[in-house]
Amino acid sequence: MTDQTVLVVGASRGLGFALAAEWLDRGWHVIATARGRSDGLAALAERHDDRFEIETVDINDADGVRALRNRLDGRRLDVLFINAGIARAIEESPATASERDFLDMMLTNAFSPVRAAEMLRDVVSEGGTIAIMTSELGSIANANGGWQLYSSSKAALNMLMKGYAAKNAADGHTLLLVAPGWVRTEMGGSEATLSIEESIPLVVDMIAASRGKPGLRYVDRFDEELPW
Ligand SMILES: NC(=O)c1ccc[n+]([C@@H]2O[C@H](COP(=O)([O-])OP(=O)(O)OC[C@H]3O[C@@H](n4cnc5c(N)ncnc54)[C@H](OP(=O)(O)O)[C@@H]3O)[C@@H](O)[C@H]2O)c1
Repeated sequence: MTDQTVLVVGASRGLGFALAAEWLDRGWHVIATARGRSDGLAALAERHDDRFEIETVDINDADGVRALRNRLDGRRLDVLFINAGIARAIEESPATASERDFLDMMLTNAFSPVRAAEMLRDVVSEGGTIAIMTSELGSIANANGGWQLYSSSKAALNMLMKGYAAKNAADGHTLLLVAPGWVRTEMGGSEATLSIEESIPLVVDMIAASRGKPGLRYVDRFDEELPW
């Protein structure tokens, strides 16, 4: 048991749900958000009602994120993990994709996570960590054309976090852009190489090992730095 607290934003299912469950297993106090009802989170709440809270927020709703920040007044987060993300039009290029799909990904995967970090950073403890789920596909250096539009939204996320890190260096927070590997979830699909159990415990280990190391890193689950 520990007195540490993590907030996982976008935890209704998939990797975010697994992160919340993993930190609960490790004795943390966990605040998990969903956009609507999540049966998985409700079941976790039944088992861990003393250490588990469910909040409702859509990361694209600035007022909703601000309201969440206000509800956290007086609280201290050791880790803020922003996991929410979407993948649309994965086979498409700008010539064939719908503009709406691209804009939705840029909003949900890039703009909104960094806005949420800005809105919530003052409840992250001194020496605390802000982690955002990016992807190996967000690397411009390694790009090979796969999932072109989604990859671009994760590259934009990485760039926005570069700016965030420069502007908020005085916070002294550990800032992590986390690439979890290709994992079998609704987004990753059944062909993905990793099970959730092969990714998420390593992600949580990596975050623990990064504690107290301020500044921004783009890293995979093994704590290996990725080329931007
Ligand atoms: N799976 C992979 O192989 C892989 C690889 C690299 C990176 N990632 C990244 O890992 C993260 C999780 O992916 P996943 O595979 O677990 O995908 P997933 O199974 O599709 O789950 C996505 C999660 O994001 C939430 N979400 C989406 N839009 C949201 C919004 N506007 N506000 C709040 N929450 C929102 C979803 O909530 P709802 O239930 O309400 O839709 C759900 O909890 C994403 O950022 C993804 O890009 C995944």
